[in-house]
Amino acid sequence: MKKILMCAAVALVTYAVVAQGQEGHPGHPGQPPGHGGAEHFEQYCSGCHGSDGISGAEHIPNLAGQKKEYIALQLRDFRDKKRPGTVMPAMAANLQDSHIEGIAAFVSSLGCGR
Ligand code: HEC
Repeated sequence: MKKILMCAAVALVTYAVVAQGQEGHPGHPGQPPGHGGAEHFEQYCSGCHGSDGISGAEHIPNLAGQKKEYIALQLRDFRDKKRPGTVMPAMAANLQDSHIEGIAAFVSSLGCGR
């Protein structure tokens, strides 16, 4: 129980830091690489994978705590049709590399894994 609470606390702090780091960069036109991973995930991915990266459905994988490089690789593979899937190829079809980096960084910051 204690461990779970600790994890939740760590996740919250990480979320705050990530969200803060992505709150726009005044004076810098264009988006820095990895910008908006948290927002993108919340908007397009959390419905299935959960806001905290823990999915509520048996057939949808948890993403929290997954390695950043693994997440990025899976998204590129779905997009580039190297990995088959039910919904993910369509979900990843329009992602650019900079989006993928941002999403992967955010997802890997969720939960306790590293
Ligand atoms: C409609 C539900 C749905 C949405 C929306 C969705 N996913 Fe998925 N995701 C799945 C399912 C189901 C799988 C298993 C592979 C498949 O069948 O396509 C999966 C697999 C994945 C995997 C691979 C996990 C692993 O362990 O290999 C990643 C990474 C992922 N999704 C990220 C995302 C991201 C990022 C978004 C938002 C851009 C997203 N998903 C949106 C349902 C969804």
